[in-house]
Amino acid sequence: MQFSLSEIKGIDLSIFNTSFVESTIEGRMKESKYTSFDDYVACLSHDNAELDQLKKALNNHYSLFFRNTLTFSFLENHILPLLFKQKVLKHSREIRIWSAACAAGQEAYSIAMLCDEFSKLHRSTIRFSVFATDIADDELQKARNGIYSEMNVKNVSYERIKNYFTRVGDVFKVREELKKGVDFSSFDLLSEECSCPSSSIFGNFDLIFCANLLFYYRPEMQEKIVRKLNHCLAPGGWLIVGDAEKEIVESYSDFSGYKYFTVLKKSISIV
Ligand SMILES: C[S@@+](CC[C@H](N)C(=O)[O-])C[C@H]1O[C@@H](n2cnc3c(N)ncnc32)[C@H](O)[C@@H]1O
Repeated sequence: MQFSLSEIKGIDLSIFNTSFVESTIEGRMKESKYTSFDDYVACLSHDNAELDQLKKALNNHYSLFFRNTLTFSFLENHILPLLFKQKVLKHSREIRIWSAACAAGQEAYSIAMLCDEFSKLHRSTIRFSVFATDIADDELQKARNGIYSEMNVKNVSYERIKNYFTRVGDVFKVREELKKGVDFSSFDLLSEECSCPSSSIFGNFDLIFCANLLFYYRPEMQEKIVRKLNHCLAPGGWLIVGDAEKEIVESYSDFSGYKYFTVLKKSISIV
């Protein structure tokens, strides 16, 4: 099916990846029982409910705790031990982590759990700070509330549920102690104004998660975002992306990817 993307008013489709827009519109057409693209576009001029549904579908907030279990296992068993060790060797007091498209906070809290466990197990005095940002204020509010469905925590071990959540009926509430380690704020990765979240004061992150976001954008937007992440990442720092996004980052910047993992390492040399 061929779409004329300029025809949908009120939504800036020019920033999105064309195949993502096409599949999203096809999905909405199927759902709302339209077979003609022209009829569907015409309906959007008067059917505000459908227009909202389309906007929602274009701004996907899906996330899970420990979403990519292999990547989180690599973080736990390889990256964090190295990071804590490096900090000790450099007499540095803080590990700085940015979850750059955090949705309702599942990714940021997963990272905080791993850091907390490592700290406690090794009696480390190194502080860790997790800055978590998203463009969607309602998702950030959900993140601050920290209340999740059983489906959302399906990848969380029984041990971690016991240590970091309180079960209330059929929902799981993040404990205050874990919440304290994560700072949620609004940040648009495409904004020209700020290079890093203002609550972090300066970038210099040791680790950045920007997972399952690049894929939705056009190459020009992807490049803008990757440049920003590169700028905020300390030399030798790690960048974690989504399954379909590793090649995108490798094609734009001085990152080298790990085989089998959605993890990239920034080169140490400062040009
Ligand atoms: C599919 S979710 C990914 C959540 C999480 N990173 C994960 O992998 O589970 C994508 C998130 O990116 C956010 N997002 C989209 N465009 C953004 C932008 N320009 N700046 C910051 N966040 C953005 C959306 O609001 C959404 O919450």
